[in-house]
Amino acid sequence: MEKRIKTLNAIVSDELGLLLETWNYHWNVEGANFASVHKLFEEQYDGLQELIDEMAERVRALGGVAETKVAVEISAGTPVAKMLSGLAERHEGLSAKMGKKWIPVLDKEGDVGSVDLLTRALQMHDKMAWMLRATGAVGGLAVSQGFRAGLFPLTGSR
Ligand SMILES: [Fe+2]
Repeated sequence: MEKRIKTLNAIVSDELGLLLETWNYHWNVEGANFASVHKLFEEQYDGLQELIDEMAERVRALGGVAETKVAVEISAGTPVAKMLSGLAERHEGLSAKMGKKWIPVLDKEGDVGSVDLLTRALQMHDKMAWMLRATGAVGGLAVSQGFRAGLFPLTGSR
């Protein structure tokens, strides 16, 4: 199979896994911040759905077939802080993979259209990760993780 198609299909599968996890948390979230977190998850799986749709249709536009392989296992009783930090980590992981692996691969293939799509995807993942971290910061947990991950580089002394 052509490299561009194979790469895009692999990304679609990864994105779908994240969408399903986000959707599941939308259903199962509980706690004091229920309404806002429930809504945040909905906004994010909606955003992911639009992105995935564009990617799969790009596969078709390039003459390929949209093939997906998704395996998702959600453990019961995940605390909200863990939902937020876990999803943020997945967004950060996908953003890093876009920048370091997938965009360079498609760039090398000369596929400017897909590079543009993935660049937008990278920006979306960064933004969603930030929103998840900021929402989790109510308890202080996610902020410290964000700092550890180097997401919020500080200047000066602190
Ligand atoms: Fe819903």
